[in-house]
Amino acid sequence: MRIDVLTLFPGMFPGYLNESILKKAQELGQLEVHLHNIRDYARGKHRVTDEPPFGGGGGMVLKADVLFAAVEAVLGWAADGKEQEGAGDREGAPPLILLSPQGRPFTQRVAQELAQHPRLLLICGRYEGVDERVRQHLATDEISIGDYVLTGGELAALVIIDAVTRLLPGVLGAEGAAETDSHASGLLEGPHYTKPADFRGWQVPAVLRSGHAAQIARWRRQESLRRTWQRRPDLLLTAPLTEEDRWFLAQLAAEAGEE
Ligand code: ADE
Repeated sequence: MRIDVLTLFPGMFPGYLNESILKKAQELGQLEVHLHNIRDYARGKHRVTDEPPFGGGGGMVLKADVLFAAVEAVLGWAADGKEQEGAGDREGAPPLILLSPQGRPFTQRVAQELAQHPRLLLICGRYEGVDERVRQHLATDEISIGDYVLTGGELAALVIIDAVTRLLPGVLGAEGAAETDSHASGLLEGPHYTKPADFRGWQVPAVLRSGHAAQIARWRRQESLRRTWQRRPDLLLTAPLTEEDRWFLAQLAAEAGEE
């Protein structure tokens, strides 16, 4: 996958991109990140990228002409703002994703959806926001990573790159590791343990050391359900559940009612 990132601060990215799994994904040829400095597409001696909003009010707004120029250059589109004429070039364009607190919520499902594309373009907002015409006529998607306001979209872009990259083929070592993640099944993951079996008197559950694959799978499923029920009961409304899952959840609820 190729990901183009438009940002005023490309220097924020290399530290994160060049370690661990993201580094490996690039070495494997599964991920290619191209950083573009939005300021390079601003005109004039001062290369102004932001202006105060029309109508007053605090803050600065990222300029539409600069962001259009940046996207058009990166995607090799005809410039000059003539939307209709350039429209033909835009067939087959990658998703143009604006990062902002006003976007649709980023979830594992959205990560899976984005991982299907060969290319993504991420636009990092800054300041008070971006000119509305970017939202209306340039971006094809708008994503928020949570209900809080960051100083810009850069961390959101990294979050998306990270979550999407680990879903790409061959990026995670263990086969199927991404399938058992929290959220991949619509549930939270249950507990994990490693050596030693006894740590300061705290024991690893016996079933995990029993060698009974079926019993271990059943225990894991139940602990995943238990954790989700305790911490994120909202997820149980949409997670795919079997009859046995429902029976186990009913038991949990009954036990809680008895206390
Ligand atoms: N930019 C500022 N806050 C953001 C958020 N919560 N998600 C995505 N982009 C942002």
